[in-house]
Amino acid sequence: MELYHEIIPTPKMKLFTALSALVGVGLVHGQGNMVPAPASSNKFGSKPSVQRDIANLTFYTVGFHPNAPILRFESTLVIPNPSPDAGPAGDVQAIWPGLQTDTLLQNVVTSVGGGPHEWYLLPFYCCHPAGNLTSQIRIYPGDLLTNSYIWDTPNNKWLDTWALTPGAEGSKAGLDAFHGGLTFDQTTASREQTPAIVPKAYDNPVLAIELQGLGTWDFGAVQWRNIIMEANTTDTDWCTKVNTDNPMKMITSPPVVRTEGNVTTCYISKLTFDSPTDKKSS
Ligand SMILES: *[C@@H]1O[C@H](CO)[C@@H](O)[C@H](O)[C@H]1NC(C)=O
Ligand SMILES: *[C@@H]1O[C@H](CO)[C@@H](O)[C@H](O)[C@H]1NC(C)=O
Ligand SMILES: *[C@@H]1O[C@H](CO)[C@@H](O)[C@H](O)[C@H]1NC(C)=O
Ligand SMILES: *[C@@H]1O[C@H](CO)[C@@H](O)[C@H](O)[C@H]1NC(C)=O
Repeated sequence: MELYHEIIPTPKMKLFTALSALVGVGLVHGQGNMVPAPASSNKFGSKPSVQRDIANLTFYTVGFHPNAPILRFESTLVIPNPSPDAGPAGDVQAIWPGLQTDTLLQNVVTSVGGGPHEWYLLPFYCCHPAGNLTSQIRIYPGDLLTNSYIWDTPNNKWLDTWALTPGAEGSKAGLDAFHGGLTFDQTTASREQTPAIVPKAYDNPVLAIELQGLGTWDFGAVQWRNIIMEANTTDTDWCTKVNTDNPMKMITSPPVVRTEGNVTTCYISKLTFDSPTDKKSS
């Protein structure tokens, strides 16, 4: 197993102070991308310019818009069935929870990286440059992947951690539970964008299915559990009105929202992206 490289014992975490560390290893072309705002268009003609070089870039997303800094964002993804697609590598099928502003931090689960019918975990940063933050890790349908992004405000760093408990298939394949993490310096990363951008607090947690090329949503329902978001606001509408602009069937448990002081916490026990209702289903 090659997994031991990725098992980074907490509390000692990898520190990424500079994205230039990524540039040398070659940019991974679009394992994850910014969701257009509003996350509406599956129309390929109306994509923001940063995305025009990626063919058939398509999203199915739920985004939350507190219009205030996010302090914490956690979720557990049930790794879905494998795609029956055995298409050419590069036809990305990806699922990710991410934190978006004018850049994007995302722990991507992607179909690209090995053979067909396989899923890989690939923490990623987007977009100019974009790149992996660690090597990829093979994971399996039925595994539970908990992703957590926590803003260490005194040090202005992001703690990005992931923990995986294997399901039946993963266990059978010899996968042990693992966890890992890294400390992400958004300020430096923003400065190293081309052109450099002034860092803005992440204010948009996103749950996403992303497709590229000939990739389709053919892997069945995608379930998110225990979604927890904390935003620096007393508004609650951003939590209670769960919405998608995309052509998909979605099932959500009622959000639970609570404001203490200036901070609002939003909890959703289960949110299922059931199926697409457009042509991307096959
Ligand atoms: C990015 O992925 C490549 C290919 O898997 C790997 O060689 C490289 O070490 C990764 N970068 C980091 C920062 O882990
Ligand atoms: C984009 O999607 C269309 C329709 O499915 C397909 O015909 C075309 O080959 C795709 N383009 C690429 C580059 O994958
Ligand atoms: C949270 O909002 C308060 C104002 O309500 C502000 O003083 C504080 O700096 C904000 N904190 C963060 C981390 O954005
Ligand atoms: C809420 O924000 C105000 C500034 O608007 C600040 O004085 C106060 O300390 C904050 N309260 C908490 C609990 O963060």
